[in-house]
Amino acid sequence: MLSKSEIRDILRDGQGLIKYIGMSGHDGLLKKDMEKKFNEITGFCENILKVVKNLDRTKEIVFLECSCGKSYLSFVLNYIFTVELGVKAFFVGVDTNRDLIQKCDETRSILGFSNMVFQHARTIDFETDRTVDVVLALHACDTATDEAIARGIKLDAKHIMVVPCCQGQVRSQIKKRHLLSGITQFGLLRYKFANILTDALRSQFLLGSGYFVELFEIVSPKQSPKNILISARKIKNKNKRNLEEYYELSNMFNTSFGLHNLLFEHRMNGSLVNMS
Ligand SMILES: C[S@@+](CC[C@H](N)C(=O)[O-])C[C@H]1O[C@@H](n2cnc3c(N)ncnc32)[C@H](O)[C@@H]1O
Repeated sequence: MLSKSEIRDILRDGQGLIKYIGMSGHDGLLKKDMEKKFNEITGFCENILKVVKNLDRTKEIVFLECSCGKSYLSFVLNYIFTVELGVKAFFVGVDTNRDLIQKCDETRSILGFSNMVFQHARTIDFETDRTVDVVLALHACDTATDEAIARGIKLDAKHIMVVPCCQGQVRSQIKKRHLLSGITQFGLLRYKFANILTDALRSQFLLGSGYFVELFEIVSPKQSPKNILISARKIKNKNKRNLEEYYELSNMFNTSFGLHNLLFEHRMNGSLVNMS
């Protein structure tokens, strides 16, 4: 498919797309304060395109972008698919910020993208009759990333691809009372360790839910510290052994993790993820 630099070139020549989505000024040049986001978006897109390559492209591919904000990612993907590659796709964006959802609707109608809808909702409460192929989340705040993962599992999405934002929930839980408290007693190390532990818990949870999981860097850490992509592909219904690893890891640090809690809610609702 396309490399990051090819995606960048397409967007820079892209008939005003980046202007309409608010990433460039009237001169058509990328805004200074948008460079980091632009790099993250193009790095994420490159990985999404690799995944899409293996999907059945004779059918419409349905994307759900959780915590979409201004939906830069979906607008860019839609442009690349429909205008550049001729791939049939449908996009659903969900966010708790009503003003941003309204802004997305306005941008969608300016661009004439009729294959996009935006919904004001919390990710975990989002419902759809559509078969969602790919669940995406870019920098969904803290546990909103976990909602995207849980929603993706519940929707039985073929791919769940999340680039997490902050990992505050675990950070506040791992100060002491575990074997590595000699590390986590120091604020800076606890911060770094919580990031790793949180993304390991997310990855183990996905493995345990029947997904094959890989982690990538979408941009260099010098460009953005929030650069880890957890990319999961559904391969089977569940994987008991790996779910045990998720629990072992969680118990090792006495964490009450977001996904754990979301899973419990799912069990109450009789979801796909069954722990027994
Ligand atoms: C840091 S912004 C990222 C926006 C966008 N993905 C981007 O990269 O530009 C995080 C977004 O998550 C939304 N959000 C926070 N919690 C959410 C939840 N539980 N469900 C849906 N959206 C949520 C916020 O309203 C905000 O727009």
